[in-house]
Amino acid sequence: MTYDEIRKVFLDFFESKGHKIVPSASLIPNDPTLLFTVAGMVPWKGILQGTEPAFAPRVADVQKCIRAGGKHNDLDEVGFDGRHHTFFEMLGNWSFGDYFKDGAIEMSWELLTQVLKLDPARMRVTTHISDEESTEIWRRVAGKEAIRLGDKDNWWSAGDTGPCGPCTEIFYDFGAEFENEDDRWVEIWNDVFMQYDRDANGNLTPLPKQNVDTGAGLERWAALLQGKVDNYDTDLFVNLIHATEDIVGVKKTPENTPSFKVIADHLRAVGFAIADGVIPSNTDRGYVIRRILRRAMRHGQMLGHRGVLLSKLYPALVAEMGHAYPELGREEKRVVEIIQNEENAFADMLQNGIKLLDNEIPKIQNGILPGEIAFKLFDTYGFPLDLTQMILGEKNISVDVAGFERAMSEQKERSRANTKGTRTLWESQTEQPGTDDSSKYAPDNTMASRVLAILRNGEFVPSAASGDEVEVALDKTNFYGTQGGQVGDSGELVADNKTVMNVAEATRVDNIVIHKGVLAAELNVGDIVYTKINTATRQQTARAHTATHLLQAALRHVLNEDVEQRGSKVSPDAVRFDFSFGRAMTDAEKQATEDLINKWISENMPVSHEEMSLDAAKQRGAMALFGEKYGDVVKVITAGDISCELCGGTHVYNTGEILHAHINKEKSISSGVRRITMSVGTMAE
Ligand code: SER
Repeated sequence: MTYDEIRKVFLDFFESKGHKIVPSASLIPNDPTLLFTVAGMVPWKGILQGTEPAFAPRVADVQKCIRAGGKHNDLDEVGFDGRHHTFFEMLGNWSFGDYFKDGAIEMSWELLTQVLKLDPARMRVTTHISDEESTEIWRRVAGKEAIRLGDKDNWWSAGDTGPCGPCTEIFYDFGAEFENEDDRWVEIWNDVFMQYDRDANGNLTPLPKQNVDTGAGLERWAALLQGKVDNYDTDLFVNLIHATEDIVGVKKTPENTPSFKVIADHLRAVGFAIADGVIPSNTDRGYVIRRILRRAMRHGQMLGHRGVLLSKLYPALVAEMGHAYPELGREEKRVVEIIQNEENAFADMLQNGIKLLDNEIPKIQNGILPGEIAFKLFDTYGFPLDLTQMILGEKNISVDVAGFERAMSEQKERSRANTKGTRTLWESQTEQPGTDDSSKYAPDNTMASRVLAILRNGEFVPSAASGDEVEVALDKTNFYGTQGGQVGDSGELVADNKTVMNVAEATRVDNIVIHKGVLAAELNVGDIVYTKINTATRQQTARAHTATHLLQAALRHVLNEDVEQRGSKVSPDAVRFDFSFGRAMTDAEKQATEDLINKWISENMPVSHEEMSLDAAKQRGAMALFGEKYGDVVKVITAGDISCELCGGTHVYNTGEILHAHINKEKSISSGVRRITMSVGTMAE
């Protein structure tokens, strides 16, 4: 059976059992606790937890997954056996409060033995030590006595918190000729009974409904059904490996097989992730992808290859899997550009870093590379620790990991001390009731507030004098404290009709809004002052912020729908906007973007500011920043029918108020991320 046929047999079977068939969700989960979609259940977490309604009682799909970081991490296994992958496809069926243990086990067994005609004698099953019920069902359905195991083997969850429950796993016997148990017995299906929700303290609460989550690796099924013991020998991989042989000009041999496997696996992980919108970077999932890409390059080098590799191989991935995952082909140009930039940047670093290592190796005394050198390789040449370990491992040299970590934390400490300033001092105050800034959107221009704290010269003081440079916290304010990329308000604190303080900028540390500036009179903790924001500047900032939303909408029109915000800074009359895009914009594209924004400005479209539940906002299709945490009630800013975004910033009420927009510059800031600077309002005019 080809892998295409296996997917079809699986989905047809569950469709015939009343399941709704749905396409794979993105590899980027809508879930801040996970870096990637690690299992088929990830998109359904809300349904399992009962916070989202189920759209069908029974669902089945084939889900793209990556396990390369966090709780589920198979990265280190890849290449050294035939069964592990960072990217894989998970065949899965779900019951959302519909069938439970009986139904799940019966259907798994029927598909394996009746449809796929696998020999029942070659299968063994495990259940959780506490799960009498499943054990009994296995006796009845298959005449099998389950092996009972503990939490480590038979309790499943996607992350440290969230839905979880006992599971039953089915193993296939690849033959007595395999001496190693793990090679012989391969897990081919996992049926999880999602019954509990685990909170951050580890407490289990029963879920509102009893659910089923099953998962089976397509790659393992392909091996089993194609008579192979190694997943990398199946039709999912042979063409990718041949393409690699062609490009590196070396044939696969038993000695170099691990490198071919690593490259084929990493090509899939990097290609699929970038097609879904991940950009290689130094943080979070971007960093995982960067590391994977660099490991692949290193293996290319071990095969004697120089220069870019995965970007040359990507078309082979599109040819192999593009029919099942059209996003691969649709994104081809962008993905290849991003991989190429990343590979080119790393190629130089790799050469220089290896030169440094070659100099250091002769000095090594006890077979251990000092941690500072490993850190220098990381810091200066971008070598992840595991890459250094891998290169040295070939020479039986290890790395002083503790020393590496010490060097890393020392450097973090240094940069924290440089940039943090008074922030830590305020952080020590955040236990106190914070500032009520709910009036920051109110047109009301002044309000009476009490002084909670005054910080002067790095010390909290009860009182400060005229001329002192201070930071002041109030119990309530209508100043907007720097947040979400928008700079804070400026203005004054007033008492007895006289200015007490000129506020240059309001910032924010957690729940405290901090007014920074210079006192024009004595100020004491407990004093009542009136807050007065600079309305002209507020208006200029509001123009810039709404213009930022128009800019994003225009880029999506002119370039493509996948352009996404990566960062922004909104200042009075000026915008800096970072977004995902793989190449420089042409002059014509820049002009078209600017023209479109100015057309929308001239159309005087109303801009609505509404509060609603996060669910209502999602339903309306409001765009959100990935990775941002949102409360249950959110603000939605809608400009005519062209832009709708979740946003806590301040905005104009009509696009006409923006007056004019002018793009000043467009440039690259890192691979796959571009930056536009734009002026608006009178500045632009
Ligand atoms: N979530 C379970 C797993 O990943 C079953 O789908 O194994």
